[in-house]
Amino acid sequence: MKTFPPHPLTDRLRRPVTAITAYDYPAARLCDEAGIQLILVGDSLGMMVAGHPDTTSVTLDQMAYHTEIVRRGVSRAVLVSDLPIHSYDTPEEALRSARRLVEAGADAVKLEGGLGQVEKVAAIVGAGIPLCAHLGMLPQRVREEGGYKKKGKSAGEAARLVEAALALEEAGAFAVVLESVVAEVAAEMTRRLRIPTIGIGSGGDCDGQVRVLHDVIGAYPWFVPPFAKVHGNVAGVIRDSLRAYEEEVSGTIPDAPRQQKKTCEGRGEGGSSPVPERT
Ligand code: KIV
Repeated sequence: MKTFPPHPLTDRLRRPVTAITAYDYPAARLCDEAGIQLILVGDSLGMMVAGHPDTTSVTLDQMAYHTEIVRRGVSRAVLVSDLPIHSYDTPEEALRSARRLVEAGADAVKLEGGLGQVEKVAAIVGAGIPLCAHLGMLPQRVREEGGYKKKGKSAGEAARLVEAALALEEAGAFAVVLESVVAEVAAEMTRRLRIPTIGIGSGGDCDGQVRVLHDVIGAYPWFVPPFAKVHGNVAGVIRDSLRAYEEEVSGTIPDAPRQQKKTCEGRGEGGSSPVPERT
């Protein structure tokens, strides 16, 4: 049975590692109270919170803000925050950005990429900040790659993934997320690495799994990735509650629409506001 190397953060994780994203206080608190081991302030917030098509417009300021509010809801789990695109283009910038997220409340940071990131990982870890790596499909590169594609399909690509993972482990990463990696390749990486692998769309043989919160609870009905198992229907509960509220209010004030119309016309004509003046 694989045991993780001693590390202040891996000491708080057990196999299988349960990890999930959270972007705000109530979600983070619910995840923490549910016993989730690792909470990720993912830059997927650009999609799930801000409604962008991908993560490439997320800024460090946004990540710091969401880290701060998630921190208030987390007392047990390990809190990891994503370094967003272009916040770690050089080792110096990577370290500056990582420090900013730690100041905002992160226990650790995560960045995407393989061999090209080793120097940055070493700079961050060398300064005492725990770092989680991220290999396989890299959402911050989705535009260059022209879509979300499975990784490790060819022998060459699989070998490069293993090589990158070993180099990131050597540079001091405490864990590695494997996103959309062919299951057999993810299993091989899990065998070869001492640090935990945390999979998403990478089969069941990783040391743990991470999911986007909205996928798990059914809060984002407009798109669900094929690998996601939806365990709830939060969007349905919200819709039903809103319909019930809307029906209750419009039912108890039958002439509400007419009154509203009159009010608007009054304003349009330059009439006085129907809201009483404060004195
Ligand atoms: O930003 C994110 O949600 C992530 C997960 C997909 C691992 O990086």
